[in-house]
Amino acid sequence: MKSLAHHPKLQKLIGGGPLERLWLSSISRVQIFLLNRHKDPQTVRLVRQVRRQRRSLLTAYEAYTVFSCGKAYAHLAGAMAEVGVYEGGSARLLCEVKGDAELHLFDTFEGLPRGTTHDRSVHRVNQYPCSLESVQGYLKDYPNVHFHQGLFPDSAQDLEKKTYSFVHLDVDLYESTLAGLEYFYPLLIPGGVILSHDYSLLVGVRKAFDEFLRDKRERPVELPSTQCMLIKLPAEG
Ligand SMILES: C[S@@+](CC[C@H](N)C(=O)[O-])C[C@H]1O[C@@H](n2cnc3c(N)ncnc32)[C@H](O)[C@@H]1O
Repeated sequence: MKSLAHHPKLQKLIGGGPLERLWLSSISRVQIFLLNRHKDPQTVRLVRQVRRQRRSLLTAYEAYTVFSCGKAYAHLAGAMAEVGVYEGGSARLLCEVKGDAELHLFDTFEGLPRGTTHDRSVHRVNQYPCSLESVQGYLKDYPNVHFHQGLFPDSAQDLEKKTYSFVHLDVDLYESTLAGLEYFYPLLIPGGVILSHDYSLLVGVRKAFDEFLRDKRERPVELPSTQCMLIKLPAEG
C-alpha cells in the first residue's frame, strides 16, 4: 500500500479541515493513553493540556518529541528556535523546558506562503493563520521569548547571528524548509539538533532535506512519527 506521502490530492482534501483535526485528535487520544503507561504523568498532562488549548498539527507523540528534545538541550550553550509557530502549541512545550535559554519564534503569523511545484499543491496560501498578538498572549509568562514576524529567512535578517542548540522546523513547504536548514545548520553547536515535522509525509519537506544534505556527512534520523532529526556532527579532523 502506498503511503499518504504519495497522495497529494488526498492530503489537500484533508489538510487544514475538520477531517485533519478528527484524525489528529483520535490518534493523539490513543497515544496519550499509551504515554500514560510509561512516561512522567506531569509531562503527559502538559501535552494533553496544550492540545486542548491550541490547534496543533502535531500528534501527541510528535509533541512529546519536541518537549523531550527541548528538555535535553536546554542546559547547553546556545539559543533555541522554531520556524512555523501557528497557534504556539509546540512553542509552549519548548517554553516549559527551556529555562533561561533564548527562544526565537519565526512565523508570518498570517499562514503559509505560496508553495513551489515541489509541494504538489497540497496546501493553500495563508493556510494555518494565527495572529502574532494571540501567540504573544499565550506565551506571555515565559521569559526570553523573541518573536520574528514575516517571511523566513527575511525575518531573520536583522537578528545577529548566534549559536543554536535546538531548532524545530514545522513549515510544511520545500522552500521554507530549505531556508531553515540553510540558515540554522551553520549556526548549530556540534551535536545540536534540527527536528522537522512532516519529513515522511510531505514530499517538499523531504526533498529540501535530501538536497541540503547531499554534500554533507549528516543523514536525517527518521523517527516513527512523520518527524526527522538532523544531528550536527563535529567538524572532521
Ligand atoms: C503547520 S503550521 C506550524 C504548526 C505548529 N508548529 C504547531 O505546533 O501547531 C506551519 C506554519 O509555518 C509557517 N510558515 C511556513 N513557511 C514560512 C516562512 N517561510 N516564513 C514564516 N512562516 C512560515 C506558517 O505561517 C504556519 O504558521
